[in-house]
Amino acid sequence: MKTLVTYISRSGNTRTVAEAAYSGLEGSKDLRPIEEVEDVEGYDLVLLGFPVVGEGAPGKARRFIKKAGRKRIALLVTHGMPAEMDAFADVIPNCQAAAGAAELVGTYHCQGAMVSWMPKVLRLHPYGYVRRWARMNGSSHGAGHPDGADLEGARAFAAEMEAKIVAGERS
Ligand SMILES: Cc1cc2nc3c(=O)[nH]c(=O)nc-3n(C[C@H](O)[C@H](O)[C@H](O)COP(=O)(O)O)c2cc1C
Repeated sequence: MKTLVTYISRSGNTRTVAEAAYSGLEGSKDLRPIEEVEDVEGYDLVLLGFPVVGEGAPGKARRFIKKAGRKRIALLVTHGMPAEMDAFADVIPNCQAAAGAAELVGTYHCQGAMVSWMPKVLRLHPYGYVRRWARMNGSSHGAGHPDGADLEGARAFAAEMEAKIVAGERS
């Protein structure tokens, strides 16, 4: 059983979550930024981390998944918007839709603090609900996340995904 944990991360949140997920794996494993992954041959499971951009998966993640073909993939998603907001409802389904031909075995998501200029830019967004979100206070933009509980969740999620694949191989 060999697992690749790879990630896209601009400001470090998803990298931190990916590192926590990596630490939760017991079998053979690699941890690499997406730019350093040439192919996914030889991995039984890929944990792919990315930040939500424009309410879905960034293009780099979509291209990676497409290239990976029919691989078993689990997603590690970080996002600025609190999961409780109505506008968040479509975000994870949008990310999961990017899985394409891959076998999506699970999705973990948590908030990740937005870079400070982002809410200022979003105040000019064409959609009213985005402007309203931008005007909310810091905790609505993920301040303090990923926190200890988010990272513990990522560790447990990775262990669960690994166990799921191992159990499937035994049966
Ligand atoms: C250009 C850009 C677009 C973003 N779009 C969204 C979005 O649509 N929804 C959301 O919840 N967060 C959005 N965010 C916030 C990030 O997804 C979040 O802060 C994430 O944790 C950043 O991860 P990173 O530090 O690994 O880059 C956006 C951030 C940037 C910079």
